[in-house]
Amino acid sequence: MGVKRPDEIEKIRGAGKVCKKILFEISSVLQAGKTTFEIAKFAELLMEKEKVKSAFLGYRGYPGVICISINEEVVHGIPSKTRYLRNGDIVSLDVGVIKDGYIGDCAITCPVGEIDSEKKRLIEVTKKSLELGISKVKAGCRTGDIGWEIQNFVEKEGFNVVRDFAGHGVGKYLHEEPDVPNFGHRGKGFELKENMVIAIEPMVNMGKPDLKILADGWTVVTMDGLPSAHFEDTVLVKKEGFEVLTDISDE
Ligand code: MF3
Ligand code: CO
Repeated sequence: MGVKRPDEIEKIRGAGKVCKKILFEISSVLQAGKTTFEIAKFAELLMEKEKVKSAFLGYRGYPGVICISINEEVVHGIPSKTRYLRNGDIVSLDVGVIKDGYIGDCAITCPVGEIDSEKKRLIEVTKKSLELGISKVKAGCRTGDIGWEIQNFVEKEGFNVVRDFAGHGVGKYLHEEPDVPNFGHRGKGFELKENMVIAIEPMVNMGKPDLKILADGWTVVTMDGLPSAHFEDTVLVKKEGFEVLTDISDE
């Protein structure tokens, strides 16, 4: 259960590459004064051009093509015609695509204009925590090894990981087994096997880990109103390590 065939891995790799490419293209047009709806429209155009579908639109009724979460919004922000990007914001862009029947899922958090140094540090720590989590991936490791690595680093830096949302298996479906929490204990949790594919996605709060969901039923925000950052990659479990399937560094 959860182990993918080589032909499936090839398709997830294909979806992952397009996903990351689109994500970076979207990030290059972030600008104060634009609405999150305009950004999502651009994402929709890119998906059409690449002949892929959004993996989020309609998922459990989610109404957006991508998720755009600003400042204290943690994840699942819905693109809106009345929400303007402002100088000093940090923006989590989360993109999931379906290509040839398989999913790629990735996210980054970007600054708009000049951001303050603590927001900068929050982004850097979250990005690094994802890299550290990924570095633990190999056949036989447990989800707790990944979670511990992320949590330990984030807390040493004085921030907190979100507990209520986790990474997940990826394949034909956006959310498959297992859950991949961003906290935990080494040697505990689900044991990963060769050729499983997981999305690792630390969400890191500058303040307390507590969350609430807005009246739109989707947007997750920090209870204390302090900013949050989010990075995500889709990762293949290999015998002696890992391959990041949302990697376009060779392109
Ligand atoms: N990357 C997020 C996740 O894996 C995005 C899901 S948004 C949803 O949970 F709308 F599809 F739920
Ligand atoms: Co995800």
